Amino acid sequence: MEKIKRTKIKALLAMQPGADVLAKGWVRTKRGNKQIKFIALNDGSTINNIQVVANTELFDEELLKRVTTGASLSVTGKLVESVGSGQAVEIQATEIEVLGECDPMRYPLQKKDTTLEYLRTVAHMRLRTNTFGAVLRIRNAMAFAIHKFFNEKGFVYLHTPLITESDAEGAGDMFQVTTLDLKNIPLDKKGNVDFSSDFFGKKTSLTVSGQLEGELGATAVGEIYTFGPTFRAENSNTPRHLAEFWMIEPEMAFYDINDNMVLAEEFVKYLVQYALDNCMDDLKFLNSKYDEGLIERMQSVLGIPFQRVTYTEAVEILEKAVADGVKFEYPVHWGTDFQSEHERYLVEKHFQKPVILIDFPKDIKAFYMKQNEDGRTVRGMDVLFPKIGEIIGGSEREASLEKLEARIDELGMSRKNLEWYIDTRRYGSVPHSGFGLGFERLLLFVTGMTNIRDVIPFPRTPKNAEF
Ligand code: 4AD
Ligand code: MG
Repeated sequence: MEKIKRTKIKALLAMQPGADVLAKGWVRTKRGNKQIKFIALNDGSTINNIQVVANTELFDEELLKRVTTGASLSVTGKLVESVGSGQAVEIQATEIEVLGECDPMRYPLQKKDTTLEYLRTVAHMRLRTNTFGAVLRIRNAMAFAIHKFFNEKGFVYLHTPLITESDAEGAGDMFQVTTLDLKNIPLDKKGNVDFSSDFFGKKTSLTVSGQLEGELGATAVGEIYTFGPTFRAENSNTPRHLAEFWMIEPEMAFYDINDNMVLAEEFVKYLVQYALDNCMDDLKFLNSKYDEGLIERMQSVLGIPFQRVTYTEAVEILEKAVADGVKFEYPVHWGTDFQSEHERYLVEKHFQKPVILIDFPKDIKAFYMKQNEDGRTVRGMDVLFPKIGEIIGGSEREASLEKLEARIDELGMSRKNLEWYIDTRRYGSVPHSGFGLGFERLLLFVTGMTNIRDVIPFPRTPKNAEF
């Protein structure tokens, strides 16, 4: 007989009964009686299992004993109509091979109901659960959709460096990169670290943003985007912060802040729609297991325009809320950076839709943002989402050489290290804008997970770099 080719379970479940098939995967559960065993097999191609029916007369008892939760199997058989499995078809097994056994006493995922907290302690194995299978498939679909979106618009995917000399956001939370011997650090005459003998001959860190290089790309080929890992050594142990996360940063020549807002809104709506169109099985699973409002919330952001509001107007709304008895943990007045409780109040209580905040006090934003005529605000833009808070941060960029240099000086930053960046304003400067979407923040929104550690396969947070 000709050898049968393996078919993935997602495809098997969509087939008509009748064919001889070969499936491979891991056992989710096994149940049954003396005459017959029902094995739920999953290969990660879909959240759904295929049911394998094994007539015990056909198989060695010892073999069936080795079919335990977590074991890997190769199963040959006939695809037949299913009566009870919840799927249209199942496999009537003729051959079962145990590829890899799985000791039920030691397997970390033995218990059926494992908490997300427990699963973080076995992050090397949690990928095999239904939950993380769903999250990984959605994560993959979103990454693909991001490239598709920008590709269709003619944006160039620009690879920006991970090792850098500049602190783009000016917040100072950078991981240093060095090959210096920490037990024997070279010092100069003044007693400062002598980086001239370090690998790059200067002090370097992991990047907090690809934006500055992104602006070089945008002022050369017009419209670019980056999509890569980003590192922040901020010591914030919150459900929304990672030390290593992924960011998408489009940067567009000839866009003003309005064009920037239009693109950001179109972009996130496209991604949410893509998830609804392509990930429904996984969304339904997450909706029923973790977040009853997930699918509805996703649909709710699609139909309506996002609310645009200035920072100053938002402060007035929040101050009025406080006067009316709303309690916030952190105080709010003009000049303060909003906390996520404030952002969520605006989105969930006040406007009940996504909000685009613009025109922030210049002192709470980075040096590169375009300065408004009032002298105290800049043309920044944050997109706020229900249950998440800030999902996008961006701005129109300061295109005037004089104003940019003045701001760099005012902030006491080193112009010397930024000369390459400032050159964009010296030679053919153009109005331009861009923003950064936190990939894992987006994933929180489209999976309903509430902790950012559960939407990245191997989270990096303070005191945690295992696996
Ligand atoms: O607002 P941020 O700091 O903006 C920038 O880095 C700009 N250079 C972007 C640009 O204009 N090109 O970060 C952008 C987004 C945030 O809105 C948030 O979604 C996400 O990145 N983000 C984080 N996500 C996870 N963990 C962290 N520690 C994050 N910090 C920012
Ligand atoms: Mg921000």
